[in-house]
Amino acid sequence: MNTPICDFVNKYVQKDFVRAHMPGHKGENILGFEHLDITEIKGADSLFEAESIIKESEENASEIFSCDTFYSTEGSSLSIRAMMYLSLIYAKKRGKAPLVLAGRNAHKTFLSAIALLDMDVEWLYSKENSYLSCEINEKELDEKLLSMSTKPVAVYLTSPDYLGNTLDIEAIAKVCKKHDVLLLIDNAHGAYLKFLEKSMHPIDLGATMCCDSAHKTLCALTGAAYLHISKNADEIFTDNVKDALSLFASTSPSYLILQSLDKLNAILSDGYKDRLKTFIAKVNTLKKILDKSGYTLLGNEKIKITISTKPYGYKGYEFAEILREKGVECEFCDPDFVVLMLTESMSDDTLMKIESALLSIEKSKELDETVPEFSMPQRVMSVRDAVMSLSKTVGVKDSVGKVLATANVSCPPAVPIVVSGEKIDESAIEIFEYYSIDSCTVVSE
Ligand SMILES: Cc1ncc(COP(=O)(O)O)c(C=O)c1O
Repeated sequence: MNTPICDFVNKYVQKDFVRAHMPGHKGENILGFEHLDITEIKGADSLFEAESIIKESEENASEIFSCDTFYSTEGSSLSIRAMMYLSLIYAKKRGKAPLVLAGRNAHKTFLSAIALLDMDVEWLYSKENSYLSCEINEKELDEKLLSMSTKPVAVYLTSPDYLGNTLDIEAIAKVCKKHDVLLLIDNAHGAYLKFLEKSMHPIDLGATMCCDSAHKTLCALTGAAYLHISKNADEIFTDNVKDALSLFASTSPSYLILQSLDKLNAILSDGYKDRLKTFIAKVNTLKKILDKSGYTLLGNEKIKITISTKPYGYKGYEFAEILREKGVECEFCDPDFVVLMLTESMSDDTLMKIESALLSIEKSKELDETVPEFSMPQRVMSVRDAVMSLSKTVGVKDSVGKVLATANVSCPPAVPIVVSGEKIDESAIEIFEYYSIDSCTVVSE
């Protein structure tokens, strides 16, 4: 029998590409325990009934993140589902509606969580014509919350987003506090924010709970993530967090991932903040060089490079292919953007390789094709009813007037353009085609 997955990975390793994409360890043997895969044997504790070594390690992480921190070996995806479950039981405790006000650029895991938990969602749309960003400010949020006849139990926002934009969480948290709603942040891309000179981590800025993927911007193994709970939050969250996580999790947590989280604590508390500062200064220098060379860079995130490729004369996909030929694999590309994710473990040589690759691409005539206008699709069914319905896959052209069932979007970025339960209209088709989506799953009559 063949081993296609192993073969692909081995070949990729041999190519020695610059890994300007997740995971954060960039394939280097930083942790040194990739062979140490065990299970919950005697003495090894148990992730969801932690009382010895895992508990101790989670306490170490809690100290580092200055809040109550819990491990997930199934990514931020698991943390998000647990976070939504905790909001649901909090809503019950407080007699609130199981309604969440969420930024429209939510990752698809959020949708699966509310479908599984039968929660309702109202969307916050961005003024930007983008499905990847939702630039909401505190004033707009305040107005929205004032206008809602049924108050949500929580506001759910993604920051940083896939393009490297961050929201003003501190100001937004004040608004949430004023309206007595929880602030939940998808901080999957922002674990490193804790270690900036002034922490910009959502919990330090006033969020109630957030998830961080330790594998995206820190050097833990893929799947390693945190669920953080503020020390100021209602005790219902910490009292129920392990049940919340285990409700959705595998009963076989990966000890490789647990070890990577454990070892990461040692790395983070041993000069990481200084190393990050030095690295960010180098990335800033690189960004200035790229800016001078005619590149249009987006986002305010410190360790992402987001290139708007059309002003430079290329479609994002095309640009990513050129980079690939030069030995650099990006994290994400679409018709408009290329995103490179960098981490502090990258050497000067690696940064130099990225710089040389980018500078060797000649600027061409600006492309003026723009993204079709995003509309607000009409909702005709709850997310849960749509996800749980009988469905069929059809070509996008045949989907007009139908209701989207499952939001089976590609990963990355896994941000749905139309959400389960919404009617697909002509403008959605135009957007699907723009992003080369040729089929979708609709509710069958
Ligand atoms: C914004 C965002 N949230 C959540 C997730 C899920 O994170 P994980 O892959 O750690 O489960 C991702 C994954 O890419 C993401 O981009």
